Amino acid sequence: MTQRKGIILAGGSGTRLYPITMGLSKQLLPIYDKPMIYYPITVLMLAQIREIAIITTPEDQDQFRRLLGDGSQWGLDFTYIVQPSPDGLAQAYLLARDFLNGAGSAMVLGDNIFFGHGLSELLTAADTKPQGGTVFGYRVADPERYGVVDFDGNGQVRAIIEKPEIPPSQYAVTGLYFLDGTAPDRAGEIRPSQRNELEITTLLETYLHQGQLTVERMGRGYAWLDTGTHGSLLDAGNFVRTLERRQGLQTGCPDEIAFDQGWIDADQLSQRAALFAKNEYGRYLAGLLKQS
Ligand code: TTP
Repeated sequence: MTQRKGIILAGGSGTRLYPITMGLSKQLLPIYDKPMIYYPITVLMLAQIREIAIITTPEDQDQFRRLLGDGSQWGLDFTYIVQPSPDGLAQAYLLARDFLNGAGSAMVLGDNIFFGHGLSELLTAADTKPQGGTVFGYRVADPERYGVVDFDGNGQVRAIIEKPEIPPSQYAVTGLYFLDGTAPDRAGEIRPSQRNELEITTLLETYLHQGQLTVERMGRGYAWLDTGTHGSLLDAGNFVRTLERRQGLQTGCPDEIAFDQGWIDADQLSQRAALFAKNEYGRYLAGLLKQS
């Protein structure tokens, strides 16, 4: 199997966060002490993925480049791709077709935050499946806002239903999709929905109908946070702050993961720490150097 590649979908219009997102991409907004996009980047890093395409709107791409560069500061390799208009999540696979070049992918939505003990094991397990797709079902209080999993009596997945009025279960499909190399071809065959988007649920259905979709339940020990509204954005920031203050550990820290994995050395980490010497993030990176 060729090495799986990563996609971060960081376009969209962010209308629920207006007026903030009228001038700035949602995925660049702060979640406490870091830009939102750091969190999905670290999810892919925990899955051992280093080649990553970042899909943005045309007008926001320069700011993402300024923030993230070519990825070499973390031993990663970033490719930037523009989505001319927000025509749906499944369109990402068409836009990334050349980048993927037949490889399987892990796509994460740029505004999704995951946290939990054992996350990297969960991701690595999904990564080892060469064929088909794996998505994650997470129990939420308001499933009608998401793609919802319909289980049959044996716990097998019957369907995934986008924003159902009467949800068939409490399990929402999270914004993290491990799909094999056939995803771009499949995305090329699906039709836009009534709201004129290429829906990820329609793409997932093509796998489901062939018995090739696994829905892993992400248990209650994990946090899957939404950041799409003013309240949820603040909640996510407070969650990260609470964890970091209590544990004295960073969450969503690409510098730390890159160093742990040996993708950057102590000199490179020390340069990064110097950049942020005036704040807690920089002191944390300097602390990692002392412990190593
Ligand atoms: P949404 O939250 O569904 O949409 P949005 O971010 O545009 O926000 P709003 O509903 O407030 O207008 O998108 C989920 C994620 O996917 C988010 O990170 C934006 C991204 N996205 C794209 O990059 N391209 C798209 O075509 C769509 C629909 C979403």
